[in-house]
Amino acid sequence: MLSEIPKGFGKVKENDSRMSDAELARIGLIAELDAVNLYEQMAALSRDPLLRKVFLDIAREEKEHVGEFLELLKRFDEEQINALEEGAQEVREMEEK
Ligand SMILES: [Fe+2]
Repeated sequence: MLSEIPKGFGKVKENDSRMSDAELARIGLIAELDAVNLYEQMAALSRDPLLRKVFLDIAREEKEHVGEFLELLKRFDEEQINALEEGAQEVREMEEK
């Protein structure tokens, strides 16, 4: 059930020059997004209201973690900033058609 991302991450050594900070931030983003899905799925499966509430609260915290890694990724990969806006613009244009 838990994510296997990043595969082979254990083979990466500290200060491994093959992995940039942007890549690490993307891995963090993937892991946090995966965690949001996991906790929301667990909440949906739970029969206990308090357990469901806790899962949903944790899912919201994971969404904040997504924001942290996204902010860092934008600092490490400036191309991503424009790409995010271009993607959003494309959706708005498709919505209008
Ligand atoms: Fe997290």
